[in-house]
Amino acid sequence: MIKVGVIGAGFIGKQHIEALGRISGVKIVAITDNNLSNLEVLQQNGVCERIYTDFNEMLDKEELDAIHNCTPTNVHFAVNKKAIQKNLHIYSEKPLVKELDEAKELIEMLDGKKLITGVNFNYRTNLLVQEMHEVVKSEAFGRPLFVQGEYLQDWLMFDTDYDWRMDTTIGGASRALADIGSHCFDIMEYVISKKITSVNAKLFKVHEKRKRYEGVGTFSQVSSADEEYTELIVQNEDGGVIQVEFEGGLIGSFVISQVSAGKKNGLKINISGEKEALEWKQEQSDRLWIGHRDKGNEEVFADAKYVSQGAKKFATLPNGHPVGWHDALTNGIRAFYEAIENKDYDGPKPFATFADGYHIMKVVAACLESDKKKVWIDIQ
Ligand SMILES: NC(=O)c1ccc[n+]([C@@H]2O[C@H](COP(=O)([O-])OP(=O)(O)OC[C@H]3O[C@@H](n4cnc5c(N)ncnc54)[C@H](O)[C@@H]3O)[C@@H](O)[C@H]2O)c1
Repeated sequence: MIKVGVIGAGFIGKQHIEALGRISGVKIVAITDNNLSNLEVLQQNGVCERIYTDFNEMLDKEELDAIHNCTPTNVHFAVNKKAIQKNLHIYSEKPLVKELDEAKELIEMLDGKKLITGVNFNYRTNLLVQEMHEVVKSEAFGRPLFVQGEYLQDWLMFDTDYDWRMDTTIGGASRALADIGSHCFDIMEYVISKKITSVNAKLFKVHEKRKRYEGVGTFSQVSSADEEYTELIVQNEDGGVIQVEFEGGLIGSFVISQVSAGKKNGLKINISGEKEALEWKQEQSDRLWIGHRDKGNEEVFADAKYVSQGAKKFATLPNGHPVGWHDALTNGIRAFYEAIENKDYDGPKPFATFADGYHIMKVVAACLESDKKKVWIDIQ
């Protein structure tokens, strides 16, 4: 049994915990959250043996093999650093950490250590994203000609919407790009097996000030305008339009927004190839669109029968039983534990590693710099 500790049992922590319950050979022994009320129900339901409100205490007392870091972004570094010092495998939430120099320090600490690291860019391990990765490598697809990505949400559309991600001391200098743009950059790079090398970004902010109501947070909204609020100056972006160049000169574009009415979790990628095009939408995540020029377009449903050999292991349900957000998250976490079991420290991974997370942070930082200087910025 691989002994696991989870740190942070809020929105995403609960999803990791559920996913871990579906993976054999893995046992959650302890969970930390600094808010005790998030933990009690988990312990009552027998999810774990012990609970903590201080992650240092949990990491010092428990004999763990791996941890899941599901804390807010400003806590990622301290947790990840301590876990590396304790020689623990880590599956961390994105963005990897808040600051670039923190990410660099973690990468340096990992040098020479036999540890598996993962960053939860969970869309990568959707069956059909894996299928796109396989198809783009094949002769049938040909050379990628142009790529497009978008990630549109509406939960921060009104000036009464507020979340910790707007506090740059917690969420970091970037919001929309670090929070959702990062997913879009990561799956595009993964699908086409090419890294972004240069960016030209124009960011936007629709509200200079926002009202923070008590109790309003991620994906929730104020119930009455009569309630008291604090007015805050918004420092990070609501979205942006980004042109990019990839290794080898391929060009692409991304549109990112958290203020687009009706778009809930609208992540979409499109890859135009020499022979055909592929498009996948997160909100219809069990379908893959294949575009043709000289015959009718196709739509493939998620099922092991219809995908390439390399993608089959990510098929968990037969077609007609639509795979979704949770299945992709669980696939990534399962692949992380398979890598631990196989002691696969150096091979390519279907999930993002800390090195990938560091690179994506550089892309986001380059977008902020490009917007400020109004020039293309190379990724160093
Ligand atoms: N991969 C994804 O699709 C995805 C989706 C949502 C959030 N996230 C990421 O997950 C992280 C958490 O986001 P969330 O939406 O779950 O936030 P959240 O506020 O719902 O949950 C965070 C939890 O961490 C706890 N916490 C805070 N400080 C702590 C500390 N020092 N020690 C222990 N626990 C602590 C809080 O009490 C809370 O329960 C963020 O970095 C976010 O970017 C990723």
